[in-house]
Amino acid sequence: MKKVLFVCLGNICRSPLAQGIAQQLSQKTNLKLEIDSAGTSAWHIGEAPCDNSVKVALDHHIDISQQHSRTITNEDIHKFDYVIAMDKKNKTDLENFGFKNIYLLGDFGEYKGADVPDPYFFDAFEGFEKVYSMIELCVTDMIQKIEQGNLK
Ligand code: 4NP
Repeated sequence: MKKVLFVCLGNICRSPLAQGIAQQLSQKTNLKLEIDSAGTSAWHIGEAPCDNSVKVALDHHIDISQQHSRTITNEDIHKFDYVIAMDKKNKTDLENFGFKNIYLLGDFGEYKGADVPDPYFFDAFEGFEKVYSMIELCVTDMIQKIEQGNLK
């Protein structure tokens, strides 16, 4: 079973959404994946995802409320087949930490390598809906590529 780790800064807004969406998609397809998420920072360890991420996921019938933030570990470097960064800073931080097989989520779908915007400081819930749509589209494309054997 292939293992996928989604990574953002705090592991409370973006990567928990990617984890929840990917888990739901992999249950719907025949492709069984082990999916997890983590933060490059240790700022929110143990915390549940932020309220707006929980809400936008629930609007799409995905419950991410039971996730807990954790930070990346050395063990993760050997464990995961694919490590998916939400933005370029996350990717650089992962490279510096020693990860090798890193992809940018925005390289999937139609986003041409765009960063998933950091919604932590968004006032409006609308921002989270945009982030959700982007993550959903890119994760769907990523899972298709894994399914088709098109991801090294
Ligand atoms: P995330 O969002 O990386 O998508 O989980 C953030 C969460 C917390 C902070 C920044 C971004 N923070 O500065 O505490």
